Amino acid sequence: MKKGSSQSSYNKKMAKGFFITGTDTGVGKTIISAALITAARMIGLKSCGMKPIETGCTRKKLKVKSLKLKIQDRDLTPHDGMFLKKIAGVNASLDLITPVRFENPLAPLTASEIEGRAVDIATINKAYQKLSRQYDAMIVEGIGGLLVPIRRNYFVLDLASDLGLPIVVVAKPGIGTINHTMLTVNYALKAGLTVAGIIINYVRPPEGTPAEATNPAIISRISPVPLLGVFPFLNDFKSTTIGKAADRNLDREVIKKYIAG
Ligand SMILES: Nc1ncnc2c1ncn2[C@@H]1O[C@H](COP(=O)(O)OP(=O)(O)OP(=O)(O)O)[C@@H](O)[C@H]1O
Ligand SMILES: [Mg+2]
Repeated sequence: MKKGSSQSSYNKKMAKGFFITGTDTGVGKTIISAALITAARMIGLKSCGMKPIETGCTRKKLKVKSLKLKIQDRDLTPHDGMFLKKIAGVNASLDLITPVRFENPLAPLTASEIEGRAVDIATINKAYQKLSRQYDAMIVEGIGGLLVPIRRNYFVLDLASDLGLPIVVVAKPGIGTINHTMLTVNYALKAGLTVAGIIINYVRPPEGTPAEATNPAIISRISPVPLLGVFPFLNDFKSTTIGKAADRNLDREVIKKYIAG
């Protein structure tokens, strides 16, 4: 099929992919999303990242002429969205990669109430479907953890479910992570989501604690889903560095099982 024509992209089946969530904010969802984008590329797939809702965005400097009373999504710079676009090396519009943006570094529902714009789920679904027809693999970064509210009675969990993607749970390496990981994995399973696995991410340098040494084995033993790997602390976030770390530390077979073919 010829790539790029509107006919072929219309007919193309939807991409497979992952929805990346975490046990908390700041656990490394963006870095792991980047790692999975590179992993998908190594399998030979055209992959694209998406951060459908981003809060804590920076306000762009507005020209006096375009000064508006109300800030719109496009007036805000989404840093995670931009990073994922860069790692994927795609020319897809940032308006599709991060369609919903808020300035306040808060849960989407809270930020949306303060900023006076409700999150439009249909906009996210449309952007996802559009990208999904152009790429083989979609790596979608969630926001915060599974029970972060997006709208009244609509949580991150519901977004993962609406997009129909298996989730990957990013967890911290140290003490406390067993409980947080098990809570997230088991809640997701009870809600009917597919959980592809867990990635323990060294969001900070190793401390050599007993918890760090024993967590991978105990989590593998007691979790109903596999540990996909322990991702190391990186000194830089170049695409090649992230790619090498993904290749060496993530379970390529499980990743393939979900996104290839
Ligand atoms: N493997 C890693 N090696 C080095 N630094 C890391 C690693 N993973 C994450 N970090 C750093 O930890 C911080 C948090 O990571 P990241 O932004 O990916 O978390 P997040 O879960 O996406 O956060 P948010 O909830 O804000 O989206 C960042 O400063 C990031 O650069
Ligand atoms: Mg992030």
